[in-house]
Amino acid sequence: MSKLQFKNKWVLVTGASSGLGEEMARQLAFQHGANLILLARRKDKLEQLKTELEKEAKVSVKTIVADLSKLDDVDRAIDQLLADGQLYAAILNAGITYFGKHAELSWEQFQTMLQTNVVSVVRFTNRLVSHFESTGKSGGVLIVSSMAAIHPVPYQSAYSGTKSFILSFATALMHEIKNKQFSLSVYAPGGIVTEMTAGDNFHDLQGWLMPVKQAAREGIDAFRSRKLIHVPGIMNRVGGFFMKFLSKRFVMGKMSKVYEKSLVKAQERNSKS
Ligand SMILES: NC(=O)c1ccc[n+]([C@@H]2O[C@H](COP(=O)([O-])OP(=O)(O)OC[C@H]3O[C@@H](n4cnc5c(N)ncnc54)[C@H](OP(=O)(O)O)[C@@H]3O)[C@@H](O)[C@H]2O)c1
Repeated sequence: MSKLQFKNKWVLVTGASSGLGEEMARQLAFQHGANLILLARRKDKLEQLKTELEKEAKVSVKTIVADLSKLDDVDRAIDQLLADGQLYAAILNAGITYFGKHAELSWEQFQTMLQTNVVSVVRFTNRLVSHFESTGKSGGVLIVSSMAAIHPVPYQSAYSGTKSFILSFATALMHEIKNKQFSLSVYAPGGIVTEMTAGDNFHDLQGWLMPVKQAAREGIDAFRSRKLIHVPGIMNRVGGFFMKFLSKRFVMGKMSKVYEKSLVKAQERNSKS
């Protein structure tokens, strides 16, 4: 199968108003000449990026304001996307986390995370796969999961579960697809410097995070090459390899201590201020 070529093609990026999605949109426009459909809830951020990319990268940009935790919004967005039959590729990147004690995660917050990270991704994937299967067109979908799908993270237990679901779902589904011009890929980064990790709870973990430009570049390269699963960063891949030889209980125990320490320190700073 030939590599994806984004030049003058329409590419959807969900969660394009900040972080990884925003940076992927920028690189797709400036380095690959892609036309973009930017989706998120914050209209002002999307409009700002649209203006910048149209003016400076000379590409065409559309925006869709939608709340992916709401199924009606998800369906409306997909209808809009597929209406003209021009969609070539989609990066399903939007996602939220909860970093704290699982016992303190409200049921409402959990449902919102499940709807955003899992239900919307499955809904988009179903319709997109069906579109590419029926038309036989060339294209691809990249699903942004996380290393937390492979090595679950204590104090982000529910988040890790959502990311594991989409990793398993997409890697299995890829083998059911008949259109040989279409690829489904999963991107599983470790920590990245974005709004998601900007909160005080993550303060002590900043040294582990990857710059967003690198995370975006590796994600786009893996997508172009139609890789099934890609973990960015040599250290993440080497670390992941050696972790296979250690007991999961031992590794998770060590991780738990590091994450708990970061949370406790954040609480101490808050109580002092
Ligand atoms: N940062 C990390 O350490 C890390 C590591 C591994 C994987 N990831 C994954 O990478 C993806 C991007 O995360 P990020 O780090 O770039 O976080 P981010 O800076 O917080 O960006 C999240 C994006 O998702 C959008 N979004 C969130 N909830 C939404 C909703 N209900 N409807 C529509 N859009 C929504 C946000 O836009 P609005 O707020 O404008 O809606 C924003 O554009 C996520 O799937 C995340 O799980 C992140």
